[in-house]
Amino acid sequence: FRTIIEPFRIHSVEPLRMTTPEQRRAAVRSAGYNLFQVHAQDVIVDLLTDSGTGAMSRDQWAALQHGDESYAGSPSYFIFRDAVRELFPFEHVIPTHQGRAAERILFSVLGGAGKVVPNNTHFDTTRANVEYTGALALDLVCGAALDAISTYAFKGDMDLEALEALLQERGDDVPLVMMTITNNSGGGQPVSLANLHAVRDICDRHGKPLFLDACRFAENAWFIREYEPGHADREVPDIVREIAGLADGMTMSAKKDPMGNIGGWLAMDDDDLARRCRDLLVLTEGFPTYGGLAGRDLEALAQGLREVVHHDYLRYRIRSTAYLGESLRDAGIPVVTPIGGHAVYIDARAMLPGIPPLQYPGQSLAVALYEAGGVRTCEIGTAMFGRQPDGSEVPAARDLVRLAIPRRTYTQSHMDYVIEACRHVAAHADRLTGYRIVEEPPTLRHFTAVFEPV
Ligand code: F0G
Repeated sequence: FRTIIEPFRIHSVEPLRMTTPEQRRAAVRSAGYNLFQVHAQDVIVDLLTDSGTGAMSRDQWAALQHGDESYAGSPSYFIFRDAVRELFPFEHVIPTHQGRAAERILFSVLGGAGKVVPNNTHFDTTRANVEYTGALALDLVCGAALDAISTYAFKGDMDLEALEALLQERGDDVPLVMMTITNNSGGGQPVSLANLHAVRDICDRHGKPLFLDACRFAENAWFIREYEPGHADREVPDIVREIAGLADGMTMSAKKDPMGNIGGWLAMDDDDLARRCRDLLVLTEGFPTYGGLAGRDLEALAQGLREVVHHDYLRYRIRSTAYLGESLRDAGIPVVTPIGGHAVYIDARAMLPGIPPLQYPGQSLAVALYEAGGVRTCEIGTAMFGRQPDGSEVPAARDLVRLAIPRRTYTQSHMDYVIEACRHVAAHADRLTGYRIVEEPPTLRHFTAVFEPV
């Protein structure tokens, strides 16, 4: 059959609280027009993030009961470590409470003033953790990524010439090269295996370690299997191991593909680097065999890692994201194409041409979607990235609104509702106005900034 169904049935349900547009307008106004400040109770379909918001399986809930909460040397740690190594065979696997903790530790050791960290595109916390050490976070994504009409399947690829040039000019200042798979801030777009091999070659020639930010590795591997010639008959775990084999280490948020509600890790082969990272881990995360997680969390993640590489799951996952994206595109709403793995990105700058980037068209669209349908999305644009380390404000490369899809959580009818809400907002787009920021913190301002309609 052509219909690809959810490869699970529902076992335990969470009721949704229905609200009216009036209630939502009041809720978002009192939240300073910042959707991170809206209470989740006041949201109907929550597409703010796919991070930690997925549904665990029966077997993950069962695994929780197996958790061993010993402070040191818990068997749950070794079950977790072995599940990670099954896919990413690194010598050292260091659990952290989430991805940004792994980033903070790694960049505290390798970053610092005068250093430059290249990445295809840094995620916001990755950028913030690089910059916090005084280093420069450089995005070197390939040209096709910013080309709205390009149909290239791997828009997460690194710009190889730019990377080569950087290493030739400033090689001594580059402590490591990062690759984010899939490229979340760029549109959830995958990186090709060929590009990863080429980046590895460049790193080898310049003697640089390559680290993966591997949050959505399984989705990335599925795209390689589907769209990169020569991999259609491979098993996903096999592709993942090839990717891992190209890297010297990884940072990881286990709240994405590992199907956890919390968790992360840092992994690497280098013994000395691992020792320095563990020294920092103990300061803030915990002992190296739990690193900020309960034994039961480690068990749930081990099981999640086994589930996420199933072909039935990935086929459904990628197809259901594409369903949402294609439906919006067919309705004339400008979306980033090809559709990525975990989310659909609406090009708010193209959809709301009357709102200048410094009046945050993405924020305007996100607020409108919430008011119209109780659909919570996330601005990924000038509100998120506009403030520079020197205090100035410039438009981000693009003003996108991300509709991130939690794993195994919503059904197709929820997506049909979201599509209807988007169509409704698109039909009234000329009525939307821009925003100004009236209060903002010094870093990661999008989480707490207070907005006001212009
Ligand atoms: N790297 C990438 C590519 C991410 O998408 C995230 C988180 C992180 C690192 C940090 O991990 O949240 O566990 O500390 N992304 C979430 C999102 C928050 O909504 O895209 P974390």
